[in-house]
Amino acid sequence: MSSEPAVMQGKYLYPAMRTYYADPLVLAEGNGRRVKDVAGNEYLDCFAGILTTSIGHAHPAVVEAVCRQVPRLAHTSTCYLTLPLLQLAEKLAEITPGTLQKCYFTNSGTEAIETAIATARFYTRAHWVVSLRHAYHGRSVLATSLSGHASWRLAASEPGIVHAHNAYCYRCTFKQTYPGCDLACAHDLDELIRTTTNGQIAALIAEPIQGVGGFITPPPEYFQITAAIARRYGGVFISDEVQTGFGRSGKFMFGIQHWGVEPDLMVFAKGLANGAPIGATIARPELADAWGPNTISTFGGNPVSMVAALATLRVVEEQDLPAHVAAVGGQVFAGVRALQERYSYMGDVRGKGLMCGIELVRENREPAPDLAAALLEAARLEGLLIGRGGMYGNVVRLTPPLTITAAEVAEALEKLGRACARVSS
Ligand SMILES: Cc1ncc(COP(=O)(O)O)c(C=O)c1O
Repeated sequence: MSSEPAVMQGKYLYPAMRTYYADPLVLAEGNGRRVKDVAGNEYLDCFAGILTTSIGHAHPAVVEAVCRQVPRLAHTSTCYLTLPLLQLAEKLAEITPGTLQKCYFTNSGTEAIETAIATARFYTRAHWVVSLRHAYHGRSVLATSLSGHASWRLAASEPGIVHAHNAYCYRCTFKQTYPGCDLACAHDLDELIRTTTNGQIAALIAEPIQGVGGFITPPPEYFQITAAIARRYGGVFISDEVQTGFGRSGKFMFGIQHWGVEPDLMVFAKGLANGAPIGATIARPELADAWGPNTISTFGGNPVSMVAALATLRVVEEQDLPAHVAAVGGQVFAGVRALQERYSYMGDVRGKGLMCGIELVRENREPAPDLAAALLEAARLEGLLIGRGGMYGNVVRLTPPLTITAAEVAEALEKLGRACARVSS
């Protein structure tokens, strides 16, 4: 290396690829729930590479599957089938709810979103898509247009997309309180479609719990109301499970199962392959069959990622990680709520399973992104990695690998407590 990492970062990388911390953390290795930086400092990883190393770093089952596959056959393109690709498609059809059945594999969540939207448009022959405010769906022009965060959007935006109200109860646009609000935010979708589209929509796309948005968690009825409205106007319902999928939200395999709605399409990435690049879109057969033109993805369905995903799902199922996540997630929330009692700057604690968001505020709920930055730095000093999010950058996120033990949760809470004390002093 020619100079210090921070200097090289400034010289050779896009500044828009913003890393955490004033002095960027340069990671070198990881095992289970622990990572080490290049100087040998160890951290308890409670962000899991943005909710992606779902069963922990270097999990032996994934390592073994990948090491067996690489020398055997590492690439094919989508012009050929492989057995791992077929096996993963079959597995996803088996574990997803309802009649979801046909898959298209890509390399990232963004591409999987693109696939879902195109599928919905082919099937419905409509163009308008409704997404939610505070949503994040990826980095392409379409995906940033779907996203409801000014800071992630590009100068150019795709036409034919409107943004509905999410259920951000802590900062309710309608200045009401659940349940007295009668879900005004959800019902507003009807007027949004009638007034800002041509009345025929292709899809409503949403995250069951908004991830980058800061783990905004709707009341139970929200998706039943909004999916029903979208379907009344001809649209299909797409559940973006990139963050919530595969046990992350606890109890169930998928986030949308908490809300009792069956989607027409689901989108996966991140935790599906424990860090191997992957994106997947699963659709009801008649939707997948409606895609007319040819389409290829050179790396989509790559056999190395396919076996990584199969190994990951085997562990998720064999260890019943959705149930484990519900249990250790309860421990995380109890500990964080106890800290909230002590630190008034923790305005809201929300999420499900191992998606715990803490919204940091000053008086009158004024967003405090500076406190979020300070808490990340303080946690780093305590040997704890946590993440950040929220429209205002003021939400701290705790999302360890799903395999985290009760003892490690206790350790994480202790470290977080000490970090909180540093911030308040
Ligand atoms: C909910 C959601 N959808 C889509 C994406 C895009 O995924 P990727 O970064 O793999 O393109 C993300 C990424 O954070 C996400 O959180």
